[in-house]
Amino acid sequence: MRLLVTGGSGLIGRQLCLEAVRRGYEVYAAEHEVSVDVGIPVKLDLLNPLSIESAYEESRPDVVIHAAALTDVDLCERNAELAFRINYNATAQIALQAKRNNAFLIYISTDYVFNGAKGMYKETDEPEPINVYGLSKLKGEVAVKEFAGEWCIVRLSTPYGIHNKKKTFPEYVITKLAKGERVKVAYDQFTSPTYVPNFCKMLLEVAERGIQDILHLSGSTRASRLDVAVKVAELLDLDKTLIEPTSISELKLDAKRPMDSSLDVSKALQILKEKPMTLEVGLNEFVRNLYRVKTSGNY
Ligand SMILES: NC(=O)c1ccc[n+]([C@@H]2O[C@H](COP(=O)([O-])OP(=O)(O)OC[C@H]3O[C@@H](n4cnc5c(N)ncnc54)[C@H](OP(=O)(O)O)[C@@H]3O)[C@@H](O)[C@H]2O)c1
Repeated sequence: MRLLVTGGSGLIGRQLCLEAVRRGYEVYAAEHEVSVDVGIPVKLDLLNPLSIESAYEESRPDVVIHAAALTDVDLCERNAELAFRINYNATAQIALQAKRNNAFLIYISTDYVFNGAKGMYKETDEPEPINVYGLSKLKGEVAVKEFAGEWCIVRLSTPYGIHNKKKTFPEYVITKLAKGERVKVAYDQFTSPTYVPNFCKMLLEVAERGIQDILHLSGSTRASRLDVAVKVAELLDLDKTLIEPTSISELKLDAKRPMDSSLDVSKALQILKEKPMTLEVGLNEFVRNLYRVKTSGNY
């Protein structure tokens, strides 16, 4: 399988490339500002339609996994024009080119397409974003349905994992607590934290089986940031009293957050061989891998 992964340097894109290379696929990793270190590098600027066209020409993919996006939720709120250009207009171009090149397109979307009023959203629930990021990603979904030939939309929620350049939430908490520093953590916003390697394996199964659908591929446990912080502190025997429960409204963020955007993963549990992990299992694996990476230096 020839695979083109956009956002090859990102949290999800890099892990996807690692797993796909391990499975023996020909992996083209699209790079923008940050160089990729896994797969065959292909230059891609989503703001330039010609660059999208040449990335397809260079890689001639069977499958495209569109993982690149403007993911900073508060930046999207401050710069809506940029958010729509990257998350919507460019996704439309990616979808058009996928159809033109007979490639199967998998679009990575988000739990933030929901308004967060009820939680445990199913694939059949109606999206209703409450911030620019969510709306721009939802418009991306609409463009995929309209312009791609064969496609799958997968929604993800608060990914955590190990990356060579950035720390995800559990690692941030570990670092703070290990230094004896206090950490403010929201107790009143709920999501479905997703262990990135688990997500990537589910996603590659979707690619391998050519599943055309909308799928929620997050972790299976609904949890707040506070739940995650406490669990990770317990696993590593760190001082939990340094964790300060805070309301999300006290964090004074630019974009509104859905209060409960947790995802129902029963469909994925039913149809996939690689199952969504619970938070317990995911965090255990995360901590074990973090130890291995820190001791070997091998990200
Ligand atoms: N992170 C989350 O909390 C979250 C939650 C739900 C869903 N998702 C979705 O999951 C997907 C992957 O997210 P992630 O966490 O891996 O994101 P990430 O770590 O922020 O990576 C984003 C990637 O997009 C690339 N990119 C940004 N602007 C670009 C442009 N103009 N042209 C080409 N590439 C560009 C970046 O490359 P450069 O750095 O080189 O610009 C980077 O590789 C996204 O679709 C996101 O919407 C994320």
